[in-house]
Amino acid sequence: MKAIVITRPGGPDVLEFQEVPDPELRPGHVIVRISAAAINRADTYQNRGMHAVPPGCAPYPGLECSGTIEAVADDVQSWKVGDQVCALLGGGGYAEKVSVPAVHLLPIPKGVSLQDAAGLPEVVCTVWSTVFMTSHLSSGENFLVHGGSSGIGTFAIQIAKYIGAKVFCTAGDLTKLEQCRVLGADVLINYKEEDFVKRVKEETGGKGVNVILDNMGALYLQRNLDALSMDGRLFIIGFQGGNSGEVNLGPILSKRLTVQGAGLRGRSVEKKAQIVDEVLTHVWPAVECGKVKPVIYKTFPLAQAADAQRLLETSKHVGKILLIP
Ligand SMILES: NC(=O)c1ccc[n+]([C@@H]2O[C@H](COP(=O)([O-])OP(=O)(O)OC[C@H]3O[C@@H](n4cnc5c(N)ncnc54)[C@H](OP(=O)(O)O)[C@@H]3O)[C@@H](O)[C@H]2O)c1
Repeated sequence: MKAIVITRPGGPDVLEFQEVPDPELRPGHVIVRISAAAINRADTYQNRGMHAVPPGCAPYPGLECSGTIEAVADDVQSWKVGDQVCALLGGGGYAEKVSVPAVHLLPIPKGVSLQDAAGLPEVVCTVWSTVFMTSHLSSGENFLVHGGSSGIGTFAIQIAKYIGAKVFCTAGDLTKLEQCRVLGADVLINYKEEDFVKRVKEETGGKGVNVILDNMGALYLQRNLDALSMDGRLFIIGFQGGNSGEVNLGPILSKRLTVQGAGLRGRSVEKKAQIVDEVLTHVWPAVECGKVKPVIYKTFPLAQAADAQRLLETSKHVGKILLIP
């Protein structure tokens, strides 16, 4: 088969479209012939040698895909050859085929095309396992997501709104903020022009937001603590603003805050299966009734994965960028 190979550590230029061996069918796995794979910021870290491939996963980038099952291991009962699926991957999405644990597959939700479904598994599992399974965002609460126009943000806005939260988001320009508004965001904050803590306080009568999903790490840690309400929960999923710094921990005690972080990729097969199960139960109905949709910005042929990653790194996109084998 063909796949995108990381030829040495570096930026998108190190990616090459090459002939590679087909994946092997292992117990508990299926082989998916890929219809589309979605790009994540983490893929660009993997190129640079900063995002380890979990044991047993293909070395090519790509954390989510959709496609058709081509082979099924003898011990897998839940899926059959020909089923159309989308999949949470530990790697290997930038390819024509991938081997996936059967427990990491999801059916294509009704109303979503096979291709567009590629943009769901990684963002949905990330947001559901953090904001909902861990930080317990609930109806009537205030929720702030940074980077509202990102792949993660466009989904987080929609599902938080669907659950009944009031949604605050940050983004770097007015066009992106307008698209966040269309997706359901209530309070739009241009992080280049406004202090998000001040705005959050104004909008909440000084109380702050209950839950924050953060991709910035150190750069925003103090401001996130300041923007949270009593019993607020901060979930950190990225370090785009660095991973070390100095912070006044006072608000954690005085406001009884919870600060957590997690990466999805390195979790065990069993834990990811539990998250996938929860997503099927709690998120798929929201997708199937049309309240939550994958937001697809642009597609590229698989061979042009480097151009697709370059586009992601410009941050011009809103939502997901797909690769088509
Ligand atoms: N822990 C996990 O398991 C996990 C899983 C998936 C993703 N992530 C992380 O989640 C983040 C989003 O991933 P993605 O693939 O959806 O990325 P993406 O589409 O490339 O989005 C990156 C976002 O960062 C925003 N941003 C940059 N500087 C900012 C600032 N100062 N304040 C607020 N937002 C800022 C950008 O907003 P503008 O374009 O408006 O500047 C953009 O929306 C990444 O950090 C990624 O590593 C973590």
